[in-house]
Amino acid sequence: MHINGTIAFVSGANRGLGRALVEALLQRGAAKVYAAARRVETLDDLRDPRTVPVRLDITDADQVTRAAEAARDTTLLVNNGGSLALADALSGDLGAFESDMRTNFLGTLAMSRAFASVLEDNGGGGIVNVLSLVVFGSVPPMGGYSASKAAAASITQALRAQLAGKQITVHGVFPGAVDTDMIRDFPITKTAAPNVAAAILDGIEAGHSDIFPDPMAQAGYQAWRADHAAFEQQMAST
Ligand SMILES: NC(=O)c1ccc[n+]([C@@H]2O[C@H](COP(=O)([O-])OP(=O)(O)OC[C@H]3O[C@@H](n4cnc5c(N)ncnc54)[C@H](OP(=O)(O)O)[C@@H]3O)[C@@H](O)[C@H]2O)c1
Repeated sequence: MHINGTIAFVSGANRGLGRALVEALLQRGAAKVYAAARRVETLDDLRDPRTVPVRLDITDADQVTRAAEAARDTTLLVNNGGSLALADALSGDLGAFESDMRTNFLGTLAMSRAFASVLEDNGGGGIVNVLSLVVFGSVPPMGGYSASKAAAASITQALRAQLAGKQITVHGVFPGAVDTDMIRDFPITKTAAPNVAAAILDGIEAGHSDIFPDPMAQAGYQAWRADHAAFEQQMAST
């Protein structure tokens, strides 16, 4: 799939990786980018005339339906919007588990469902689900987040199989640590969001189903392939 000329829709486009993806899409010649955010005023600084601001909370069924109706020319859906609550398996607030599951799993699923027919009507296209390296090994202090991303990874596979006959490619993205607000306070090595965004677009253009867009992601996936149990322990100790 070529980015040049594509019409993309990006959730969580107001900051972090989502904003970097909008900018990278424009740089590579996207014809139009629907930039979606919960608070539409946070998109006011987007100046490129190819951007179209959209109000969207992916956990709001009516807003999801309206977004798909308003963006019927979309050929590339990027499910980037996501939340991270620090909630561990033994003592974490179940409300935090529910919230991450509602956003990262059900929100991603709702958006993919709503846009599948849009993409099909346009002759095919792509769905990109931003997941996480924690899919391959849970990080216990964020056990709820890890589970929500694992659920989203599973549904990504199901969508891929069900949409394959409709000329729609489905890509899972498994970043390691990205330098955004989400992990601002974590003292670990992070990759700059523009670099991660560029690598994601490279992966889409190369037709990769699974995309590992930064050095931590690539090393982590290699370690998981070499020894699943050792990788699980490594992630558990981070
Ligand atoms: N940063 C990392 O190290 C890392 C690693 C792996 C994967 N990821 C994933 O990358 C994606 C982008 O995260 P980020 O690092 O850019 O974090 P971020 O800076 O915290 O941005 C998160 C974005 O998601 C939006 N969002 C949250 N809940 C939403 C909802 N219910 N509906 C619509 N949008 C919602 C936020 O909107 P508001 O501004 O309204 O809150 C914000 O735009 C997420 O899916 C995250 O899980 C991040």
